[in-house]
Amino acid sequence: MKIMSGNSNLPLARAIAAYLEMPLTDASVRRFADEEIFVEIHENVRGQDMFLVQPTGYPANDNLMELLICIDALRRASAKRITAVIPYFGYARQDRKPGPRTPISAKLVANLITEAGADRVLAVDLHAGQIQGFFDIPTDNLYAAPVMAADIQARYGDRDLMVVSPDVGGVVRARALAKRLDNAPLAIVDKRRDRPGESEVMNIIGDVSDRHCILIDDIVDSGGTLCNAAEALLENGAKSVAAYITHGVLSGGAVARIDGSKLKELVISDSIQLTEAAEASDKIRALPIAPLVGEAIRRIADESSVSSLFD
Ligand code: R5P
Repeated sequence: MKIMSGNSNLPLARAIAAYLEMPLTDASVRRFADEEIFVEIHENVRGQDMFLVQPTGYPANDNLMELLICIDALRRASAKRITAVIPYFGYARQDRKPGPRTPISAKLVANLITEAGADRVLAVDLHAGQIQGFFDIPTDNLYAAPVMAADIQARYGDRDLMVVSPDVGGVVRARALAKRLDNAPLAIVDKRRDRPGESEVMNIIGDVSDRHCILIDDIVDSGGTLCNAAEALLENGAKSVAAYITHGVLSGGAVARIDGSKLKELVISDSIQLTEAAEASDKIRALPIAPLVGEAIRRIADESSVSSLFD
């Protein structure tokens, strides 16, 4: 087996390779003057079990195109099997038609990845579990919950915790985490969003008074959902609010919004490479997921169980 990386998150790819005690495949992914992507693999990969690490965060379209072109290069170089390792699968939020005459872009992206020549996909915390079914190739969806639960236990384990889902759609994810935290109680923020990119908190379902709240979600993008939820929880008597979110998309002024918010801290994984602003923030902390992804890769290559990672 070999590990190759695009440009999207080289530190993560290097950490995964280090976990597996192997070097990254020697390849270059460059841009022509007009921004076309050119990939060259500088070593033999014929007959190899290839794992290509390329999350599709910002800039989403460039990183997606790079992923597709790397897969094509590997296929034409006669790799035996290609696993697209996509720790953050962009376009996942477009997983259904929100209105008439709109696309289901998550399905289109799944089709593109399959058509490019991927044999398998390995993702982390897909926005919705059913996105696995958008691929007609085996797709493993890893959960960051064990990594987050261990950190929550270490930092906040001695307090009266309340796990909180910032919207109704995230309840299953929040409940799974609460279970790992000795069945901590669960509250839900009933969020209404009038326009894309804006969020408004309406109601808290559950009694959060005197609790240390842990907000759980898959994505923090503008940060609006989290900051509004934190404010609503504190107004309802919560003692403190911290957030554990798998994918730190953190677009636009998100970092400044988080820094100025009432959140105690925002903990994200490094599925997307942190920006300089996120690195510099006193409120944002990243948990490494390379051991989780690296172990899943090892098990896929060995054809042993991946699900048992979460028992
Ligand atoms: C939505 O369904 C997702 O799970 C996140 O809650 C959402 O993407 C967060 O976006 P923002 O940070 O822009 O409020």
